[in-house]
Amino acid sequence: ESTTELDLSAIQPGQAIKAVFRKQPVFVRNLTPQEIATANEVAVDSLRDPETLTERTKEGHGNWLITMGVCTHLGCVPLGAGEGENKGEFGGYFCPCHGSHYDTAGRIRKGPAPANLVVPEYEFTSDTTVVIG
Ligand code: FES
Repeated sequence: ESTTELDLSAIQPGQAIKAVFRKQPVFVRNLTPQEIATANEVAVDSLRDPETLTERTKEGHGNWLITMGVCTHLGCVPLGAGEGENKGEFGGYFCPCHGSHYDTAGRIRKGPAPANLVVPEYEFTSDTTVVIG
């Protein structure tokens, strides 16, 4: 079993990066206060895959959204982690293969994907270092 260690210190609020974990893309996003507020305003019961942002982040590191960069429909890599990429109608990620829109918590909001972007096992080993896996 391999792990991936990432240094988050250069990721500014509002930015996301794409890394690799076990040969699959993983997205690391530094959420802005507005993106966090937007995610928390959603009625969780209205969601296809009901989860709160809090459930999808670590206590004390609630601005860091870490998910697999693999669409839960048929496995394409969504857009939104790169500079100027289409973040979709809900400001998170957009899968162009068949039009799935994910929100700022990586939750499926529109389109054919059945589930939220998967949150991998990970832990913070310092304020700016995370180990995935
Ligand atoms: Fe993403 Fe189909 S693979 S919408």
